[in-house]
Amino acid sequence: MQTDHLPDSILIVDFGSQVTQLIARRVREAGVYSEIAPFSMAEEAFKRMRPKGIILSGSPASVPEDGSPRAPDILFESGLPILGICYGQQVMTHQLGGEVRPGHETGAEGNRGGEFGRAFLTVTKECALFDGLWQVGERHQVWMSHGDKVTQFADGFEIVATSDGAPFAVIADEARKYYGTQFHPEVYHTPDGAKLLANFVRHVCGLAGDWTMAAYRDTKIAEIRAQVGDGKVICGLSGGVDSSVAAILIHEAIGAQLTCVFVDHGLLRQNEREQVEAMFRGAYNIPLVVVDAEDRFMAGLAGETDPEKKRKFIGGEFIAVFEEEANRIGGADFLAQGTLYPDVIESVSFTGGPSVTIKSHHNVGGLPERMNMELVEPLRELFKDEVRALGRELGLPDMFVGRHPFPGPGLAIRIPGEVTKERCDILRKADAIYLEEIRNAGLYDAIWQAFAVLLPVKTVGVMGDARTYDNVCGLRAVTSTDGMTADVYPFDAAFLTGCATRIVNEVQGVNRVVYDYTSKPPGTIEWE
Ligand code: XMP
Repeated sequence: MQTDHLPDSILIVDFGSQVTQLIARRVREAGVYSEIAPFSMAEEAFKRMRPKGIILSGSPASVPEDGSPRAPDILFESGLPILGICYGQQVMTHQLGGEVRPGHETGAEGNRGGEFGRAFLTVTKECALFDGLWQVGERHQVWMSHGDKVTQFADGFEIVATSDGAPFAVIADEARKYYGTQFHPEVYHTPDGAKLLANFVRHVCGLAGDWTMAAYRDTKIAEIRAQVGDGKVICGLSGGVDSSVAAILIHEAIGAQLTCVFVDHGLLRQNEREQVEAMFRGAYNIPLVVVDAEDRFMAGLAGETDPEKKRKFIGGEFIAVFEEEANRIGGADFLAQGTLYPDVIESVSFTGGPSVTIKSHHNVGGLPERMNMELVEPLRELFKDEVRALGRELGLPDMFVGRHPFPGPGLAIRIPGEVTKERCDILRKADAIYLEEIRNAGLYDAIWQAFAVLLPVKTVGVMGDARTYDNVCGLRAVTSTDGMTADVYPFDAAFLTGCATRIVNEVQGVNRVVYDYTSKPPGTIEWE
């Protein structure tokens, strides 16, 4: 990849903290581009990015323990400003000649040692991190989460803020522009944390804070042109925001060298295919191949009730259809994907153990290897809300950019039990009514995801004077910031009653509606 268009950036070295991504977000919110690299790859990232400052993250590891991770020496030799957060403060102290002791040895806080949760520190000295924000003598709330402690700082450092549990709450070596915080400035519970980080990247590192989506778009367009040359690219569209934004960006870069493929597996929401066709062919004039594969998917799903087998079949069949179509189009050298940053950040594992698979997610994983194509992934550095901002920058209408996420396996995982075309049709109608009601009530944007599910259960009802015996439809709506955890959206009863009435009256095949009151965890957002 060419590097002529390098933005001013901050390198974040990840030691495996749960909240490292938040550091990247806060830095970008301050208008400065940042990337996260695992500690083991930080040297390579440093050479590639040529950053203007470095942040060392927290970690579940313990500096005094053998084998715990270290920052590459090149970072300390670079002369750049460095901010160490929690473990980052400790590892910096250790590597520069200070001392860190395990919490249980220093532990004034009981046998567990360490300090967890809300704490208050007192500012004892002026510091560039505090400029315009904290004055000497003031007390401020911060969020601590650490076991070990710095007991002797390295030469050149001094204490600039202190707390009961952490005498070295903030240390600074102003001459070298090295700073260490025992607390986490990146989390919401440190109310001034975002401003402290902004002070570091702008004031200490001297960055302008002018990184914008327009600049990102121009950089990416140049990169795509350099990567692709006069080659041919194909892009699988899902109808979702990520693949759409990727496709439109690539189209801006290379025009008709891009062909998009949309696989209609029959598991789409109402009018989804038509909307994609209108958008890509109509509004953007992008070459689009729509593959009607409904029969194939329905045939393969017949009789299958196991959620994982359904997911696996759909994922595999999707790849097969896409591959056939790519061969038919012929001659493509590149495969475009809407991969996002959270998908590419390498998780840092200290135990080496695999994490538990809750659901096998469907995306086009596996395709590039099989098809021997080079990947074009212009959204690899972006978070979801940044993709939305880029979409707006590219002229996508708000209604499209703000769409709720929709899973790759589509309606199949919202129809527990066997999936048939008839059941998909019933669900499509109920789902469309529910979403129409949500939009009419002005609630769509306040909800992360709302959808209907069709249960494999029939119940008795009465309509007119007749007995009915029909399907149950479940409604779900959640709020979330990343889909990892979710709260139930608290509709008022009248709203839900209105939806239930409309669905039972208008959708043949449904005679009862229930609302799902399960948060995530313990539930997942989708039902399968
Ligand atoms: P769960 O159900 O695991 O879903 O709580 C979390 C988020 O991921 C979406 N989801 C998927 N997205 N392929 C996707 O692209 C999938 O296989 C898939 N399964 C779930 C889900 O809609 C929610 O936003």
